[in-house]
Amino acid sequence: MKEPLIFAMPKGRIFEEAAALLREAGFKLPPEFDDSRKLIIDVPEENFRFILSKPMDVPTYVEHGVADLGIAGKDVMLEEDRDVYEVLDLKISACHLAVAGLPNTKMNDVAPRIATKYPHVAAAYFREQGEQVEIIKLNGSIELAPMIGLADRIVDIVSTGRTLVENGLVEYEQIVDITSRLIVNPVSYRMKDERINEIVEAISGVLNKETTMK
Ligand code: PRP
Repeated sequence: MKEPLIFAMPKGRIFEEAAALLREAGFKLPPEFDDSRKLIIDVPEENFRFILSKPMDVPTYVEHGVADLGIAGKDVMLEEDRDVYEVLDLKISACHLAVAGLPNTKMNDVAPRIATKYPHVAAAYFREQGEQVEIIKLNGSIELAPMIGLADRIVDIVSTGRTLVENGLVEYEQIVDITSRLIVNPVSYRMKDERINEIVEAISGVLNKETTMK
């Protein structure tokens, strides 16, 4: 039996949509896939091994070749800038990156503070705007920052917009649209091209079907 193909899957909000897409593409994922604390799940029927990782870490596993392929948000790809191939836009988990803050407030004139989980993306964005800012890196609940006086603005993901509304914040600028991507380790793509192409084609089939139905 050939060695399994290793797939890095993001835990959390992308997971369900990603698993649904793989199932629709014909891959048999066991029920334990959806409700388990296991971090490594083998699927011998498909000769797959899944590693369940933090979304921000998926490109790291794929770049280092401990996973052959993975699913990562475009937000993560922009922030991490890893040496991996981005082979498919999976069109799932659509959201956007935005600048947000308290309503009717101007940014501080001198070195306004920007809180974010995406320090590289935020720094590049404000550099392009010609604004000198101080970036404050947080790991979650970013919306707290302007509410408690830690930052003038945040750069964060907006999906339904509920978190902003429920915390009395508004969106000031949209930075970029985000969807999840299928990413592949460059060496794996050469060595295991046949199997990886089969997967890419199976998923593309589902995506094309959905486009024609729209
Ligand atoms: C993300 C993001 C926002 C929220 C946006 O956080 O950072 O806080 O979702 O979603 P909404 O527009 O649908 O309300 P996540 O729940 O992933 O957790 P985090 O705060 O730990 O980053």
